[in-house]
Amino acid sequence: MSVQRTELLYEGKAKKVYATADPELHVIEYKDDATAFNAQKRGSIAGKGEVNAAVATRIFEFLAEAGVPTHLEALLSPREQLVKAVRIVPLEVVVRNRAAGSFAKRYGVPEGGELDPVVVEWCLKDDALGDPMLNDAAAVALGIVTPEELETLFELTAEVNDLLKPFFAARGLDLIDFKLEFGVDPDGAIVLADEISPDTCRLWDSATGDKLDKDRFRRDLGGVEEAYQEVRARVLTRTEQDAEIVREHVAEREAWELGEAHVGHSHGGANDQDHQHPHAGAGRHTSAGARGDAGARTFNAVVDVMLRRSILDPQGRAVEATVRRLGHGNVRGVRVGKRITFAIDGELAEVEAQVAALATDLLSNPVMEDVQVELEPAAG
Ligand SMILES: Nc1ncnc2c1ncn2[C@@H]1O[C@H](COP(=O)(O)OP(=O)(O)OP(=O)(O)O)[C@@H](O)[C@H]1O
Ligand SMILES: [Mg+2]
Repeated sequence: MSVQRTELLYEGKAKKVYATADPELHVIEYKDDATAFNAQKRGSIAGKGEVNAAVATRIFEFLAEAGVPTHLEALLSPREQLVKAVRIVPLEVVVRNRAAGSFAKRYGVPEGGELDPVVVEWCLKDDALGDPMLNDAAAVALGIVTPEELETLFELTAEVNDLLKPFFAARGLDLIDFKLEFGVDPDGAIVLADEISPDTCRLWDSATGDKLDKDRFRRDLGGVEEAYQEVRARVLTRTEQDAEIVREHVAEREAWELGEAHVGHSHGGANDQDHQHPHAGAGRHTSAGARGDAGARTFNAVVDVMLRRSILDPQGRAVEATVRRLGHGNVRGVRVGKRITFAIDGELAEVEAQVAALATDLLSNPVMEDVQVELEPAAG
């Protein structure tokens, strides 16, 4: 494919970003330059640009096959990718399957310890401030993302981790941690952007524990070029498991989506417009008979709260693991939620509005959870 790159838009530490004749497309050129510790350490790794372009391309193609939206259009040349021009969300999303690097240092724990649940850290993408970590509330309060965007980032991040762990495991590599960046594409959708490579992942050889990533450069371990080449060779090798990983992931997501459709979204979701508001959802039991009744009376309210699809449902995952271990291999997509029931007096319309507000404001966390309300006239 030949695409004419035009002006240089941005030169970062590891890549250059060029405009093209099409304002919706950029060309990313991967450099051999290497930096570490917020650019205090600088150097060059021969062949790194080509390795990272090839590795990132294969990984993004694999993720796209499994339904993860990404910015990648094509690999143009050994170190150039054609990508969708996106507005980068100024958050670095760090996923940690095991303690290492700054995490191990910060909390005084040895490197390599498994983290259960998986830890997701948000860092503000700001070199001048040293990419400081921030929590969900700060990310929203600082106007960096909306709660809905945060939820989407979280879900996509969880999907990427669920896909990449087995992808690397099939290649004898243990995915210790990694950093993701996301962007908003011209259609307003959040897509995975930037790169995934030995620059942005910690990868340890599953058999020997050898580090095959940028830590060899950061820590002067030697064999830097060889490690990058080794990762390229392994990532580019197709394995029998690849198709199975994609298939299982797609099946699991479909199971989730079935579950979501059943529970029903009611507020806050990225696709909220597509879903009904709790007032409408509550109509199932209140509609026909109850609606005709004017005047105050007693209603039974049932509020169902479910965690949204995310890695923060460790309980659901634990239950599923147990259920499957006990031989029920056909069970998928287990989620654990809570039900709150109460009686409430008043006129139907008022009570509906009041319960919907309670469900949204008090009984659930709109960032993390979906809620569904049902109301029915109390017997007698
Ligand atoms: N599809 C895309 N559209 C626009 N910008 C992108 C896209 N993908 C990645 N970028 C941005 O392009 C730049 C790539 O350069 P590089 O990775 O070298 O930056 P960097 O030195 O790490 O600095 P920083 O990432 O902090 O800006 C990054 O700023 C990245 O966020
Ligand atoms: Mg970068």
